[in-house]
Amino acid sequence: MMDKQPETGGAYQHIVRAEGISLSYGKIRALQGIDLAIGRNEIVGLIGDNGAGKSTLIKVLTGVVRPTSGKLYIRDKPVDWTHYSVREAHRLRFETVYQEKSLGEKQPLWRNIFVGRQITNRFGFIKVAEERRIANDLLKNQLGFRGVGIDADSTISKLSGGERQGIAIGRAMHFDSDLIILDEPTVALAISEVRKVLDFVRSIKASGRACIYIEHNLAHVHALADRLIVLDRGRIVADIKSGEMTLEELTKFLIDLQQSGHAVGVG
Ligand SMILES: Nc1ncnc2c1ncn2[C@@H]1O[C@H](COP(=O)(O)OP(=O)(O)O)[C@@H](O)[C@H]1O
Ligand SMILES: [Mg+2]
Repeated sequence: MMDKQPETGGAYQHIVRAEGISLSYGKIRALQGIDLAIGRNEIVGLIGDNGAGKSTLIKVLTGVVRPTSGKLYIRDKPVDWTHYSVREAHRLRFETVYQEKSLGEKQPLWRNIFVGRQITNRFGFIKVAEERRIANDLLKNQLGFRGVGIDADSTISKLSGGERQGIAIGRAMHFDSDLIILDEPTVALAISEVRKVLDFVRSIKASGRACIYIEHNLAHVHALADRLIVLDRGRIVADIKSGEMTLEELTKFLIDLQQSGHAVGVG
């Protein structure tokens, strides 16, 4: 596990808070005035139709793209956009499992686990044996890849969709992240693999961390999340605490939203 750094420990109310975040891609207003705060041990489900802005929002939170306007606070401290990047988000212990392929196809597993965060000796050389050993331990003991013919030297291209998500999730576990963001991690998975991802989300909660979980399967997020945030055409249109809506009510709400053709302000 990585050492605790001063700015990542201590007392804080929100692991991340966004204020008035807007982002346009040319004429497309992907995000419009997003206000959002995630508590330090909160599991927040982010839902909404394709194109609603879910992936764009998490890309802003994790330093992949810079918004057109708005503010970001991490552990209650303002972020300077000019110094915010994926690397900085990693350093602040945010880990993201992206919807798009985020692993190097031809690279062995151990390289993928440590990409961007190599273990080096004092001369700057990568400690290959140590990375390989940790990768094998992660595969066998944490991810349950036992006896399926996969080890630290297997290449990513040999893995199924679920196994790839497992690697990305294993990375988040190893680096002891405080905020883990999953962008539709179950979309291409078999049912048995979906269960593993859901168990992992539960373990994030149990270990005191926070999670933003983007999921198209409403039953899954409804069952797991402390709070659900609904995005519609770049705006937050509902913020629903666990227990406030049944799954049926939630489903109806989203269908009505789709049919209304335009966003209605709720909550
Ligand atoms: N790199 C990009 N360039 C141009 N438009 C984009 C880009 N990424 C996303 N968009 C557009 O922004 C909107 C929100 O997309 P996205 O955040 O991917 O939605 P979601 O993840 O909710 O399906 C969509 O209209 C999408 O086409
Ligand atoms: Mg998306």
